[in-house]
Amino acid sequence: MSHTSTQGGHSADILSHTEAGVTTLTLNRVDKKNSLTTAMYTALADALELAQADERVRVVVFQGHETVFSAGNDIADFLKAPPVSPDVPVFRFLRTLSTFPKPVVAAVCGPAVGIGTTMLFHCDLVYAGDNAAFSMPFVNLGVCPEAASSLLAPQRMGYVRAAEALMLGEPFMAEAALEMGLISRIVPPTEVNALAQRQASKLAAKPTAALREVKRLMKQGQAAQVAQCMAEEAAVFGRMLGEPAAKEAFGAFLEKRKPDFSNL
Ligand code: COA
Repeated sequence: MSHTSTQGGHSADILSHTEAGVTTLTLNRVDKKNSLTTAMYTALADALELAQADERVRVVVFQGHETVFSAGNDIADFLKAPPVSPDVPVFRFLRTLSTFPKPVVAAVCGPAVGIGTTMLFHCDLVYAGDNAAFSMPFVNLGVCPEAASSLLAPQRMGYVRAAEALMLGEPFMAEAALEMGLISRIVPPTEVNALAQRQASKLAAKPTAALREVKRLMKQGQAAQVAQCMAEEAAVFGRMLGEPAAKEAFGAFLEKRKPDFSNL
């Protein structure tokens, strides 16, 4: 089975290609650094649901471009359609990904900002280019973490390193991410997508039921906690978006100036 489709409205911002049991979802909005719009979250959630239901799909791969994985939420789109309810596409995408029963592989090069990093906590194998730069700058935008990263970042990275990443919001490079156990391996950017495909093919050749059970058993211990954390983060995030710090931060981004939080 080989099938390619474009998703995400008219702009083909998400490409979906299925071949030999592997569905590859490509973030394809490079001119805007693969920042994610509501339409793209809907396309990703739809594609994951299709992949989950289709028995022929055995593995999902996420990839971006050799120069950028994702700049996180599209800030202009965010302001137009703020994610103020748990049913909005971004949270639907995160719920679908975090409970996805089949293996998920990610190939990451260049900046992986915000959800570009936090979605990786829900992927099983993560391959990164040596140019990968991860960041979770929620605080700089006056909002809180999402994707259960307030639970999973301290767990994976240790509290003080998570605090540095989530409180300062500064990028950390692939080497640090490897050392902290956030990614599986580092290769040159030109080789990342090919490596992810090779590993996905290996997974696709394995017995599906056994893989599903491995994943389920590894994750079941805290599945309820992850879901509860995501729900709480979503509620807080929605509230904070309406507060002055977020307004200042988003306004500053759009006006291409530094935000001023001195009175906030
Ligand atoms: N939302 C909307 N547009 C974005 C964007 C975002 N999150 N990130 C980048 N873009 C746009 C820029 O506005 C610019 O558009 P323009 O060409 O129309 O002016 C274009 O993408 C290129 O971005 P630029 O900043 O010039 O690229 P860069 O290579 O210098 O830097 C990043 C890349 C990812 C480091 C930088 O764009 C960035 O920090 N983006 C914001 C990340 C962020 O805060 N995301 C929210 C997380 S919750």
